[in-house]
Amino acid sequence: MADEHKIDNAETAADLNRRQFFARLGLGSLSIAAAGTAAFAYQYLQPNVLYEPSPIVNQGKPDRYPLDSVTLDVGAGIYIIHSQEGFFSLSAVCTHLGCLTAWKPDLGIIACPCHGSKFFVHADNEHRPGDKIEGPAPRPLPWKRIWLNEDGDLLVDRSTDVPPLARDSFVRT
Ligand code: FES
Repeated sequence: MADEHKIDNAETAADLNRRQFFARLGLGSLSIAAAGTAAFAYQYLQPNVLYEPSPIVNQGKPDRYPLDSVTLDVGAGIYIIHSQEGFFSLSAVCTHLGCLTAWKPDLGIIACPCHGSKFFVHADNEHRPGDKIEGPAPRPLPWKRIWLNEDGDLLVDRSTDVPPLARDSFVRT
C-alpha cells in the first residue's frame, strides 16, 4: 500500500514536471512569435525613405579654377567652367544613356566615351556651351545652378537646371 502511494507521488511529480516543461515551451514560443510580429510591425510602420546625398556640392574657392579652364568633378558629375563671362557649371552626365563625359582639351570639346556624343564648351554665334555637336544624345548638357556662399565658396545645385547664358547662370567675382 505504501509502495503504491510512493509510485503515485512519483508519477504525479513527473507529470507536473512535464506539464511545467510544456507550459514553459509554449510561453517561450509565444514570446518569440510576439517579438517577431513586433519587429515586422515596426519595419512596416517606418517610412520607406532612401537617404541620398545632398544635390548641393561645394566646389571650393573660385581661385582654384584658372581662367578658361574646364574642371570635371567626377564624384559630383559636373564641370566647373571659368570663362571670360564668369563661372558656370554643366552637367557631366551624357543625356543619351547617362555615361560620364570627359573634357578633351586638345579638341576643346566635351565627349562621351560610350556612343560618341560631343558637346560644345565654348559659345559662338550659333552655339551655347553644352549644345550637342554630334552623336545620339537627344539634348544639350544642362547648365546647373551655381552661386557663392557666405564663405566665398562656389556651390552647385545638381538638381536645378538653369537657362544657358542667362545672367544668373554665372558667378562673377
Ligand atoms: S551615353 Fe553618351 S552617347 Fe550614349
